[in-house]
Amino acid sequence: MTQIQAQQMEELLNVGIALSSTHELSALLEMILSESRRFTYADAGTLYLNKNGNLVAEVAQNNTLRRRLGSQRSTAIFRRFTVPIGFDSIAGAAAETRDVVHIDDVQNQPHNSPFQYNPAFDRAHNYSTHSNLAVPMLNRQGNVVGVLQLINAIHDGQIVPFSDSCIHVAKALASQAAVAVENALLTESLKNANLDSLRRLGVAAEWRDKETANHIMRVSHFSQLIAEEMRLGSDHVELIFNASPMHDVGKVGIPDAILNKPGRLEDSERVVMEKHCEIGADILKDSDEPVMQVSRTIAVAHHEKWDGTGYPNKLTGDQIPLEAQIVALADVYDALSSKRCYKDPFPEEKVISILKNDTGSHFSPIVSAAFFRVYEATKKVRETFDDTEATFDKFVSL
Ligand SMILES: [Fe+2]
Ligand SMILES: [Fe+2]
Repeated sequence: MTQIQAQQMEELLNVGIALSSTHELSALLEMILSESRRFTYADAGTLYLNKNGNLVAEVAQNNTLRRRLGSQRSTAIFRRFTVPIGFDSIAGAAAETRDVVHIDDVQNQPHNSPFQYNPAFDRAHNYSTHSNLAVPMLNRQGNVVGVLQLINAIHDGQIVPFSDSCIHVAKALASQAAVAVENALLTESLKNANLDSLRRLGVAAEWRDKETANHIMRVSHFSQLIAEEMRLGSDHVELIFNASPMHDVGKVGIPDAILNKPGRLEDSERVVMEKHCEIGADILKDSDEPVMQVSRTIAVAHHEKWDGTGYPNKLTGDQIPLEAQIVALADVYDALSSKRCYKDPFPEEKVISILKNDTGSHFSPIVSAAFFRVYEATKKVRETFDDTEATFDKFVSL
C-alpha cells in the first residue's frame, strides 16, 4: 500500500467514525454528500433517499453555484424533487440495478443510450453538467436506502470523468452511509413515536377540560418562538417545544364536577383545581428522559407568578424555572386570544394590554419582552392552528 493509499484509508475510517456518531438525519446527509464530493473531487452532487419506491432528493450541493451566488442563494435554488426508481434517470437506474452508473460525459452520449440528459437545470442556472457517477446506498440486506449522485469530477481545474479509484471510494462511502442513514431514520422514527405519544397525552388532559388539541399546539409554537428569540440554543428550544404540551397533564386527576363547572369556583374547589400542577409533576416524575424532565418542570411551575403570588410553591422571579416562565406566558396568551366555552376571543388591544399590565407581576419582564418582539409571528401560529380543525399533521410543519 502506498503512503497516499494508506492516508486515504485512514481518512475514510475517520469519515466512517464521524458518520456513525452523527444521529441527526439532515446533518448526516449533508456530511455524506460533502465528504463524498471531497474524496472524489466532485463539483456538485445530490443525495436521494428511497421513500416508498421513489427517490427523494434530500440534499444538493454545487460548488460552482455556491461560489458564484453565495451559499444562501445557491441553497435556495435547491427544491426537493422526486424521481422514480427505474431507467428514466441516472440516479433511478443506479437504484433499479443496485449498481454504479458511471457516465464520462452526459452531453456526449450515444443516441441509443438509455440515459438522456435533461438540460433544464443547467440552462436555468448557467451550469454545465458533464461527468456523472451514481452509486446506490445498499443496506446489509442489499435493499436500496438511497442514491449518492456525484457530478463533474475536477482535475487541474478541468472537468474529467470519475476515475476508477474515485468510484471505488464512492462505493465504500455509500455503503457506510447506508448503515448510518438507516440508524438515523430508526432513531428519528422512535423519537417521533415517543413525542407523538407525549402530545396525545397532553391532548387527553386538555380534552377533559374542553380545550382543543390546537391549544397545546399553539402553546408549543408560541413557546418555541419566545425561546428562540431568547437565544436559548436549538436543543433547549426543541426541548421546550416538545415538553410544553404536557403543561396541564395533571388535569386528568381533577374531578369533572370541578373541571367542567360553569362559572366561578368556590375557594375549596379552587384548591382542588390548583392541584393539577402537583398531579402533573407526579405523573411525569422519575424519568431519565430530558423531555420528560422538562415537562415535569413546566407542569409543576406554569402557574407560578413573577411576584410570588402564583401556585403551588409561590416561587418568585428566577426561582421559577425559565421553561415554565415561557410556557406561562404562552398559555395565558392563548387563553386570552382564543375562544373558550365561557368566552369569545378578546380583542387584540385587550390581549396586549393585559399581558403588558401583568408583566413584572405575573410574567417575567425578559420573557415578555421576547414575546412582544415575536408577536407578529405568533399571529401566523394562531392562523395555522385555529380551532376549526385539529390535526397533528401540522404540528411540526410550521
Ligand atoms: Fe394549568
Ligand atoms: Fe393550557
